[in-house]
Amino acid sequence: RLAPLLAPSLLAADFANLQFEIERLAGSAADWLHCDIMDGRFVPNISFGVPVLQAIGRHAKQPLDVHLMIEDPQNYLAAVRDAGATNITVHYEACPHLHRVIQQIKALGCRAGVALNPHTPVWLLEDIAADLDLVCVMSVNPGFGGQAFIPNTLRKVAALKELLVDSGSSALIEIDGGVSLDNAAALVEAGADVLVAGNFVFGSPDPVATLADLRAHLSE
Ligand code: DX5
Ligand code: ZN
Repeated sequence: RLAPLLAPSLLAADFANLQFEIERLAGSAADWLHCDIMDGRFVPNISFGVPVLQAIGRHAKQPLDVHLMIEDPQNYLAAVRDAGATNITVHYEACPHLHRVIQQIKALGCRAGVALNPHTPVWLLEDIAADLDLVCVMSVNPGFGGQAFIPNTLRKVAALKELLVDSGSSALIEIDGGVSLDNAAALVEAGADVLVAGNFVFGSPDPVATLADLRAHLSE
């Protein structure tokens, strides 16, 4: 039995009806709500920022899993926590002082995560792995929803799993980008603990039913 956490990404939800989108997920198979913050600098797209995150936080029943695709994330950590974040994930590629940023996230009482772009090797985490609560493996280039899953991710997840075990790290492995019924079971078998899904969930006619299908598929 495969029982990963499911984290639908609100990036693919209807931004004009966020309260409705969040409330209908309340009784669903969603374990976390994944919130993608983009600054148009670190990634070539702008999604939403802290004021919208605050609005999400006012209605959410599940923990907010906040993915910061921004430069200088250290400047926004307290505001993101105050908006209701449970998990804060920063990008490896955006943090020359990653160790300090991770300690800052933990000092705010949040789970600390690091995301890796598709070209960033997992071994770069060797000296920080034991400090992490979560590693987000990007299975698309960050910036947009609805992109195709990069198959090399499976090999990467297996290598990361090994690195975490060797480091004595209990960090969760999260996969973000192009996740669907086509790759979910293989990802969990390779070692994934959390699956993020945007388009697969919100691009379907019934997101709640789609999450239930995904959960059932992984329990078979
Ligand atoms: C991409 C974001 C993802 C995105 C995933 O930059 O980090 O969280 O919402 O969307 P899908 O599942 O559609 O690839
Ligand atoms: Zn994301």
